[in-house]
Amino acid sequence: MGLMKGWPYTDFATGWYQIGYSKEFENGTIQPAKWFNQDLVIFRTESGVLAAMDAYCPHMGAHLGHRGQFGGKICGENIQCPWHGWEWKTDGTNARIPYKDDATVNAQIETKHIREVDGIVLMWFDHEGKPPSYEWPGFPYIGDKSDYYPIDWTVDGPHRVKPQFPMENSADPHHFPYVHGSGVDAEFTDYVVNGPECGNKMYMTFGAGKERTWMTPEGPVDGEIDNFFWGASLGIARFNINGRVCIHLTVLTPIDDDYCTFFSTVTHNREPGATGDVPEGIAKKMMEAQHVQIRNDFHIWANMMYKVRPIFTGEAEQTRYAFIRKHFDQFYPNPVY
Ligand code: FES
Ligand SMILES: [Fe+2]
Repeated sequence: MGLMKGWPYTDFATGWYQIGYSKEFENGTIQPAKWFNQDLVIFRTESGVLAAMDAYCPHMGAHLGHRGQFGGKICGENIQCPWHGWEWKTDGTNARIPYKDDATVNAQIETKHIREVDGIVLMWFDHEGKPPSYEWPGFPYIGDKSDYYPIDWTVDGPHRVKPQFPMENSADPHHFPYVHGSGVDAEFTDYVVNGPECGNKMYMTFGAGKERTWMTPEGPVDGEIDNFFWGASLGIARFNINGRVCIHLTVLTPIDDDYCTFFSTVTHNREPGATGDVPEGIAKKMMEAQHVQIRNDFHIWANMMYKVRPIFTGEAEQTRYAFIRKHFDQFYPNPVY
């Protein structure tokens, strides 16, 4: 499927994918979108219900999310088609035909499963068309959520990459010095699967080999990174460096067979004594660094070919890389491992 040489899968992986942020969808507004090869309309009703559905009106096929003066619009709890004014409910059924006061039609627009958790908007993709089999629990805060800065995000693309690639970093200790400029290789633990969640731990010395860095003004510090994955789509790295906690959610959501949009979302616990919502000090730099560091991988992924059987050199690499690939494999319709 698609341009990437060697990519073995015939469809997208089942799971939750990010399609935006709650704040981007204001009450009474509509947006066109394209995800998983499908044209969609995403809208929020006057009362605040968020919905996503196939973009095309069952009547004569107008795009409901087309923007501008003559685009579709929200009427109370319904979306109104720009062509003949038919109104549709968030469940995809017909609510009203304005020039036939007493009639509706028995038609159904395909709707999507949508969730909003911690300000993140998620959409469920299932290659068998089944409903969600689990819920995303949100950011894995250590301590009280109110001690964290509001989420900060960057979005870009399209990128010619696959959703699981950022998560494969957690099995790849030897790329850190080359791709991310770290002083030493990382160390990892084995993966643990807990229901829909899979993860491992990574140990790294921050500022290794340097007297001081912005992150480590008092010299090198041993830190931990907890990785959490849901499906082959949602990945979180949670850094804990001497009580400084930085949580980074990375999601690549497919637009079509070849390209994804990249959502990078970060939060950090406040500096000791700080109460404001604007990150400062090392927390601010740490949050900014996440958005930059992860992008260092993209030039590799966009130009690579996928090796179903890579050359592994050693036990740890073999068990972990092989494990995580087999784990992601289960979410595709044609497992290859
Ligand atoms: S095409 Fe939508 S109302 Fe006619
Ligand atoms: Fe990386």
